[in-house]
Amino acid sequence: MKKHHVDILISEQDVRSRIAELGQEITNFYQHKNIHTPLVVVGLLRGSFMFMADLVREIHLPVEIDFMTTSSYGNAMNSNHDVRISKDLDGDIKGKHVLIVEDIIDTGRTLKHVVELLKHRQAASVKVVTLLDKPERREEAIEADYVGVQVPNKFVVGYGLDFKQFYRNLPCIGVLKPEFYED
Ligand code: IMP
Ligand code: MG
Repeated sequence: MKKHHVDILISEQDVRSRIAELGQEITNFYQHKNIHTPLVVVGLLRGSFMFMADLVREIHLPVEIDFMTTSSYGNAMNSNHDVRISKDLDGDIKGKHVLIVEDIIDTGRTLKHVVELLKHRQAASVKVVTLLDKPERREEAIEADYVGVQVPNKFVVGYGLDFKQFYRNLPCIGVLKPEFYED
């Protein structure tokens, strides 16, 4: 564990309790909507894997699970404009209600691309839940339907989020200290 590399922003316990609240809100919403097909929960890899695992245990509805891997080629801290799907969904979502699970919305480019794609494939509805939201960085007009926690314009790691593939296994969310990303 590299806990000394970060300043803790959201503790493990606070992450867990916020996710329980999100799960409750999501359960209530779809229960009211009275949908007749399983909700398809789509995790965007790799960052959302831990959030996805905890969140679905708090959603008390029949769900299907699927994953998509998106990549935006840039450097470690800034993505560029080009969003690509490097692993697509395994299942067909036509006519199904879809909930996209994202780790963090930064510029909003990834999410805009994925939402448009899934709508184009004729999902019955597309909603988004993100654990973290960094609104100051937004470049596309897009918001999640459910937001765990708003974070300041700082690079965060842990609970699935990485810096150069490290720190994903931290159980909390932290701000990476500058001495660990500056050369
Ligand atoms: P967007 O397309 O700019 O909204 O970027 C979204 C993706 O960039 C997220 O799914 C993350 O994988 C990554 N990302 C953005 N900000 C951070 C951060 O502070 N820490 C780690 N990954 C981040
Ligand atoms: Mg991501």
